[in-house]
Amino acid sequence: MSIPSRVKLVEVGPRDGLQNEKTPVPTAIKIELVHRLQAAGLTEIEVTSFVSPKWVPQMADNLDVMAGINRLQGVRYSVLTPNLQGFAAALTAKPDEIVVFASASEAFSQKNINCSIAESIERFAPVVDAARAAGIYVRGAMSCTVGCPYEGDIAPERVSYLAGLMQGIGVQHVGVADTIGVGTPLKVRRAMEATLKHFDINDVSGHFHDTYGQALANTLICLQMGVWQFDTSVAGLGGCPYAKGATGNVASEDVVYLLHGMGIKTGIDLDLLIDAGQFISDFLGRSTNSRAAKALFNKRQA
Ligand code: HMG
Ligand code: MG
Repeated sequence: MSIPSRVKLVEVGPRDGLQNEKTPVPTAIKIELVHRLQAAGLTEIEVTSFVSPKWVPQMADNLDVMAGINRLQGVRYSVLTPNLQGFAAALTAKPDEIVVFASASEAFSQKNINCSIAESIERFAPVVDAARAAGIYVRGAMSCTVGCPYEGDIAPERVSYLAGLMQGIGVQHVGVADTIGVGTPLKVRRAMEATLKHFDINDVSGHFHDTYGQALANTLICLQMGVWQFDTSVAGLGGCPYAKGATGNVASEDVVYLLHGMGIKTGIDLDLLIDAGQFISDFLGRSTNSRAAKALFNKRQA
């Protein structure tokens, strides 16, 4: 399999990036972030999640954020929906895509969504049916595909099992997530191979948190397998409330720098993306986690 000539990034900063922020981020800031991301050429943006506001207070303004976005044609806006209640709420916001999220680890499933893997699949099945009947694309996220904060290493067989369940209920695409960023390239490749037993190469993506600085290497090995879709987060924002110590996703700017440097097209304007990262970092009062953004920003100032 040759390296793809074009890659699609799904920007998850507004959702995965911000969900773990302790201080409430005003709705207007979230909307402005989405506007800046789409202006930078991102065509897939994971905007928010329809989960319990008691569990994840930062996403409580989901409807207001969705309503406040000036939607561009050609941009797809996705939201997380863990159950029918979340899906019903999301429906009024007219997402282009919904995301159901399960875990390859039993313990993480319990901590994150308060049910077993099997129960989560039972809950998703009617959500998937309803979404597809409404013409909404269904993506699945598979957490802890290489390691779990509670169970340690996760075997590829567990990933294959979960991918099979996702495929069985009609999920159209799955993301292979290294939720806590412990993966290294060969382990990630095995998790991806396990997923490819059930999904086509065009229906899988990588979702790599960068806790141990391995996310770019993990992205590269997936590119070498022909994977051409990745979730990334502007300024490397984020972390999961149920994965203590895990840092954000790989920074979108770093991935774009990698891809453009390899001659791979993304349709993204790196300068505008850096501005979007600077905007949210300034708001949060800390410097960006993107090495490429830092370097290019300093170069600009010089
Ligand atoms: P539960 O408590 O088991 O649900 O939560 P329940 O059905 O027993 O309901 C209890 C209460 O929650 C009720 O309210 C429901 O109305 C409410 P009460 O009567 O007590 O006032 N409720 C809801 N409210 C709003 N929206 C809903 C909803 N469902 C029930 N959809 C639930 C189950 C899944 C809702 C809960 O566990 C939850 O919200 N968990 C948060 C999960 C989450 O957002 N995690 C982070 C995102 S996943 C992630 O980051 C990983 C990913 O990036 C990939 C990776 O890196 O691995 C995708
Ligand atoms: Mg994540």
